[in-house]
Parts: sequence; structure tokens; C-alpha cells
Amino acid sequence: MLENPKRYTITAALPYTNGPIHIGHLAGVYVPSDIYARYLRLQGKDVAFICGSDEHGVAISMKAKKEGISPQEVIDKYDAIIRKSFVDFGISFDNYSRTSSKIHHDTAQEFFRKLYDNNDFIEEVTEQLYDAKADQFLADRFVVGTCPKCGNEEAYGDQCEKCGSTLNATDLINPKSTITGEIPVLKSTKHWFLPLDRYQDFLKEWILVGHEKDWKVNVLGQVKSWLDDGLKPRAVTRDLDWGIDVPVEGAEGKKLYVWFDAPIGYISATKEWAAREGKNWEDYWKLDSASGGTSTKLVHFIGKDNIVFHCIIFPAMLKAEGTYILPDNVPANEFLNLEGNKLSTSKNWAVWLHEYLIDFPGKQDVLRYALTANAPETKDNDFTWKDFQARNNNELAAVFGNFINRVVVLTNKYYDGIVPQPNEFNEVDERTLAELKAYPAVISSSIERYRFREAQVELMNVARLGNKYLADEEPWKMVKTDPERVKTQMYIAMQIAAALQILCEPFLPFTSGKLVKTLQCNVSTANWKSVSETSELLKPGHKIGDAEILFAQIEDAEIQNQIEKLEATKTANREEIASNLAMTEPQKETATFEDFSKLDLRVGTIVEAEKMPKANKLLVLKVDTGMDVRTIVSGIAEHFSPEEVIGKRVTILANLAPRTLRGVESEGMILMTNLPDGKLVFVNPDVDGVDNGETIS
Ligand code: MF3
Ligand code: ZN
Repeated sequence: MLENPKRYTITAALPYTNGPIHIGHLAGVYVPSDIYARYLRLQGKDVAFICGSDEHGVAISMKAKKEGISPQEVIDKYDAIIRKSFVDFGISFDNYSRTSSKIHHDTAQEFFRKLYDNNDFIEEVTEQLYDAKADQFLADRFVVGTCPKCGNEEAYGDQCEKCGSTLNATDLINPKSTITGEIPVLKSTKHWFLPLDRYQDFLKEWILVGHEKDWKVNVLGQVKSWLDDGLKPRAVTRDLDWGIDVPVEGAEGKKLYVWFDAPIGYISATKEWAAREGKNWEDYWKLDSASGGTSTKLVHFIGKDNIVFHCIIFPAMLKAEGTYILPDNVPANEFLNLEGNKLSTSKNWAVWLHEYLIDFPGKQDVLRYALTANAPETKDNDFTWKDFQARNNNELAAVFGNFINRVVVLTNKYYDGIVPQPNEFNEVDERTLAELKAYPAVISSSIERYRFREAQVELMNVARLGNKYLADEEPWKMVKTDPERVKTQMYIAMQIAAALQILCEPFLPFTSGKLVKTLQCNVSTANWKSVSETSELLKPGHKIGDAEILFAQIEDAEIQNQIEKLEATKTANREEIASNLAMTEPQKETATFEDFSKLDLRVGTIVEAEKMPKANKLLVLKVDTGMDVRTIVSGIAEHFSPEEVIGKRVTILANLAPRTLRGVESEGMILMTNLPDGKLVFVNPDVDGVDNGETIS
């Protein structure tokens, strides 16, 4: 662990722009990283807090297919939504960039080139899974199958979400294409591999020995299991059409693997920020060229599914490059569940941030607080609406809000809002002030060990200290009998309120902002240390503003409303499953053998195809039926381009009565079927050795 770093580079996992963000993202990554960054800034530290949209990878292409729009449209849409959520929730990035930006493409390609020139890659032609029907290689999320480690039947080609193992698509048992449902075949293709095995010893020494004491046990556990398995070379290029071009000869049409480019996004986002701010980005990322050491502390905030990428693959890339620093810590969180079930974007089992703000306008801090109080720091945790309500009503309102309200109301009532001149302190006063001054160090110690829940509990203890002081002293009773004593009491209570304004800022930034107004604090001179080092935060004679309710009660009806919303999601999911089942058409009327034998079904090949002029749906095909080459007009133009279908083997109904469509005579029909996602596919008679004209019976 780096002591007294000169500066901090803090990264938060770049979210995929294939959907909006929900409470799980906030709890796992963005709130803790924001608390950390805000805390360091209050300490006067030099901080670069970096994030951005992760806009490559198969998740984006799949979403585009599903929504029927281009990948560019997908990323523009979700980048805007995600960006806004971060601003709305006060996540204080110094820069939020995008991996589709030019500076990122350039930076990622330059990084690849450097490793390529250094001979840090292995170039290899290997057999990869290939979907012949979709004419596409299947990596990552384009293939599902059984996890070889845990038996989960829905593991992806890059990762099993059940056991967390990272996989290669070819590791899957019973692989299946997610595009067509086909069983893939093996086909050879050339790729570049990062030989992780070369870094095995280094990683072991650096993490398991060097960071045994200061990294989280869940992180060390995953790293150890990876190293025990033995690291293997990992492909860093892909056969895809969406992503960053591989910048070397012989790689035409290939893209960088998204997990190669995305973490470099931290670097490009820092460059973009530094250029804007007139800083030197290298200070935040590079080893000191003279000493080879570093005075910059790099910390990656991520969820547990990202551990291997940030603790093994990215460090191996940085190490290979040779001029970069490595993370000082990777405080990964476990997962947050919602009302007992796993959060799921596809099942809509989530609290979406943009929707939360419609139902609870202005209550960003309440959510931040509830998520931190329940943060999945050491194990998976559950978010429940009842807990959310209790955190607001019993803690934020009853403890924090109540204390501030009493101090502000009484000061306005007794002294027209002017901080009174205290008299001599008694023992309770001295003890209370001493306790107050001890809190910054207590909270710091928790934050610096990435224990944000514990830190937030200590913050609330500051408000509890204030409440206890007022409850014991009872100025509202004493004001009649000993008004001079009350001046001292209110002066002390006011110091606690001012301390809360500063100390709560990392956790409750909006509340802190309101307190600045209510207490009329001078923010420019206040910082974390002033709470322990300044003898008074608010001087006698200082005038405060009016009281404002910080945390209104959250009523049962509001909570019930949210619970019903989730119930409705469950019902909708059940209905969707039921309707998918019901979508299987019922069997038609019985056909006699004679009826069937009237149909002339044959194998054919599409030899020519073109669009029917002025018709969106129709393709005019020439089909070799073995008997002749005939014209068949088919309503598939919205699903296939002419180029795609040429050469396809098809099943045709040859003796269908000819029909004239837009002046073209169609002599037969091509048999098609639908995949569950609505995609149309040919009924494929592609069996070796079957010739055109062979009948089907
Ligand atoms: N987009 C990834 C996810 O949501 C995280 C990328 S983090 C980065 O899991 F390091 F690659 F940027
Ligand atoms: Zn598994």
C-alpha cells in the first residue's frame, strides 16, 4: 500500500451502454467510488476520478439486433441516459468519457501496436466456434452452453455468471449459438493472444504476497483460484464487425476484444481530462522514468464479475507495456439483490435510477445512504423497500434531520439566527468537543480501508453525539432559568452541525449542499481536517439561515407502491413465459396420406436473388430445383439481403399453383420457420450428399 501518495487516479468500471443503470451498479461501484473521491478532495488531495461508457462488445451488437437499430444508435441512446443518471445522483467524475471517441480508438490501437511490436502477443490460427447459418464466428455472449466448472447450462462463451469463472467459448459443453440457436462448428481463424502464463509468477508475487494484507479477501480468493488453475494465453482480438480495428497487417475485418480496449478507456478518459484541465496525464498513469517507482495511487472500483479483468488481464497488459503503474487496490464489491432476487436487466427486476427519481424526486441522498448502509462489501446483500423506508425514517430523519432541525430552529428562535458567544465550558462541553474532533480520523480510517458502511455508521454517530448533547442538556428547559448557559449549549450544538455539513459531504452531497445554505457555511475554507484542527467552525456573531426539512418521512403507501410495481414485473414475466408457450400453434386438422403425397417437396439451391423493385418485403429468387432453375418470389426481404441468400440450400414446395406477384410469376414456395426471437430461418436440408431435386417424404 502506497503511503502518502502525491495524487490519486480513481476509476469506476465503465458501464456497458446496452441499458440504463440500476441500484446494483450504484451500490457496487459508483457510490463507493464517489464517496472515496469526494473524501480525498475534502482532504485537499489531487484526484482524477475517471469513468466513461463501454461502447464495444457483443452486448451492444445484441441489443442493436434486438431493438432493430444500429449499434451507434444503441450507444448514443444509453450513453445519454447513463450520463444523466450519474449527474442526477451526484457521482462526481472528473471526466466521463466514451470508448467510441477518437482519442480512445487511437489510444487503444497505439497500446496494441506497442505490445505487438514488443512481441508480447502470440499469433495463432485456431479453431473457433462458427455459426454457419449466421456466417459468423461465435465468441463471448454469442454462444451459450454448459459451464465446465459448475455445470450451469446457461454459461456464456466468456463467462459463467453462476460460478464467476471466465471461459473461452470453446470450453463450453454443448455450445449453442445465441443468434440462430444452431450448434456451432469449428472453423479456423487467426488471432492474437496475450500469453498470461508469462505473468503468472509476477502476479502471484505482486498480489498474493505483496497485497495479502491490504486487498479484500474476496478479491484475493478469486485471484488465487485463477493462479492455482494456471494462467493460459487469452485471445485479445475477435472476428466481429463492431469494435476497434486491430491495427496490424493481416487483421483486416478483425476487432480488439472489448476487454482489451475497455480498461484502456480509463487511460484515454484521463488524457481527455488532462488536456482540458491543462494537466499532464502521464503523472496519473506512468511510472516515474527516473526512479521506476510511483507516487500515484491507482484504485479500481468494480463489481466482483470484473475481478479477473482488473487483477489479472489489465495488469498483465500494463506490465507488458512496461511504462505504466499498477493498481494499489481493487476494492471489488459482491452483488446486491433486490427483494430476495438477483437484479436482472432482461427480466426488468431492478430499480432503475431514472425511474426512482420520478417516484422520489430530490431524494438522491436517501438512496445513496440506504445503498451504502447495505453495501455488499463482504457478501451479497439484499435491498428491500422496507429497509429503505426504515433507513430514511429511523436514521436520516429521526437522527440526522432531527438534530439539524433542533439546532437551527432554536438558534433562530433564541438569537435571531446569530451564533451566540459561549461562556466557560464545563466538563461535558469539553468532552463533547473532544469527541467531535476525534471523528474525522475515525471516519478516515474506515474510508481508507474501503469500509464505507462502517464509515457511514460513524458519520451518523456524529449526529447522535449532537442529539445526546441536546437531550442531556435540555436547553429548551434551561432557557428560562439559565439563559447564559444556553448560549454555550447552542454554540456547541452549532459546531456539531457545522462539522456534519463537512463530514457528510462524501456520503450525502445534496444534504451537505443544503446545510451550506442553512448554516451559511464558508465552504472555501472548510475541509476534512478543519473539523479536528479548527477550534471553532462557526464563530459567535455568524448568522445562519432558515430551517428546511432535510428528510421528509417516507409513507407506507409510497413503499407499497414500489412493492406493487415489482409484483407487476413478476406477473408480467410469468405471463410472458406463458404466452411464449402458447405461441406454439395448435396442431392443424388431420391430413390423409393422400393429402400429403400431393405435395412435391424438394431440395434446392438459391442461385440468384434480387430485390423486387418498389416492394419492401419481396425477394425475387432463382432456385435450382434439380429439374429446372425457376423463379420463386419470397416475402423475406426484411430478414435477408439478396447477397446473404445466394448459395443457401432450401426446401421448396415445387408444385404450388403458380401465382403472379407484382407482375412476376412465382413457381413454388420456400419453407421457412421462426426462431423464438422472431428471426426467420430457412428449413435447412443441408445434409452432405443430398442433391438438388431430391424429394422430401
Ligand atoms: N462494461 C463492463 C461491465 O459492465 C466493465 C468494464 S470496466 C473496464 O461489466 F475496465 F473495462 F473499463
Ligand atoms: Zn460455472
